[in-house]
Formats: sequence, C-alpha cells, structure tokens
Amino acid sequence: MFAPQRLQGDKTSQYDQLNAQAQALLAGERDRIANAANLSSLVYHGLPDLNWVGFYFFDGTELVVGPFQGQPACVRIPLDRGVCGAAARTRATQRVEDVNAFPGHIACDAASRSELVVPLVDASGSLVGVFDLDSPLPGRFDESDQAGLERIAATFLESLE
Ligand code: SME
Repeated sequence: MFAPQRLQGDKTSQYDQLNAQAQALLAGERDRIANAANLSSLVYHGLPDLNWVGFYFFDGTELVVGPFQGQPACVRIPLDRGVCGAAARTRATQRVEDVNAFPGHIACDAASRSELVVPLVDASGSLVGVFDLDSPLPGRFDESDQAGLERIAATFLESLE
C-alpha cells in the first residue's frame, strides 16, 4: 500500500517531498493512464484548496480528458480554446489568477476561480497533453506552485520513457 506522508515545512520543501512521493509512486510503471491516474490522486489529496487535478491528452487534433480527480469535466478541448488549449498551443505554463478574466476560459466546474496548466512535451518534442489544476480560491497558485508542479509534470513525462 502506498502511504503518502503529510507534507511539511515551507512550500519549496513540500514540493520536494511531493515530487519524491510522485517518483516513488510511478517507479517501474510506464503506462500513461495508470501513472496519470495515480498522480492525479496523489496531488489532489496532497495539496490544499484544489477542486480539480488531472490530465488532458493530445490526440493529434485536440485535447481529450484523461484521468482526473474532481467533478466530471468537458471531454474535448480544441487547441484554440480555454486555458488548457493555450498551454498546449504555446507550450508554456498558464497560471491564471482569475479564470473569469481569462478570455475563452472553459468553465467545467463553476467553483473554479484560479487555474494552473502545465504543457506536457516529451523528449522528442511531441505534445503529449496538459496537466491541469483548478482551485476554488482566486490566486491559489504562485510562482513556487508553478515551479513545483512543473517538476511533478516532468516526473510524469520521465515515467513514460
Ligand atoms: N478550465 C479549463 C478546462 C478544463 S477544466 O478546468 C477541468 C480550460 O479553460 O481550459
């Protein structure tokens, strides 16, 4: 049984611990559905003030919802729509303090107020999808959250190699 330890210390140290837990959880498994499912659960239960954590995978045309924790979500997102589409299209993390002020934001859960979306690009440069986190609090994600969650996204990508 995987028994996650409660995160302690300052935020940077907490992300060090969460990333170590992610590496342990994904070790020895390359299946992307399995690893996305377990990572969604680890992050959703490990970090405070989140209402959705999960993955969208690129099918060659658009983003299709993958494993997640939270309310049921929109299934397909074209790359020219939403925060997820912007992350996939620009290949840059989107950190949105107020989703209502983001043009084209797609409201899957009306409770969401802020959002962080990390693009997933593999070692060969192919777009795999995005890692998406929503919070019911405005401005939930700061620079240290972005850095920590980008490392966790990298751990996911490394697990697929
Ligand atoms: N809000 C996202 C859609 C996905 S949900 O948050 C789960 C967006 O604008 O792309």
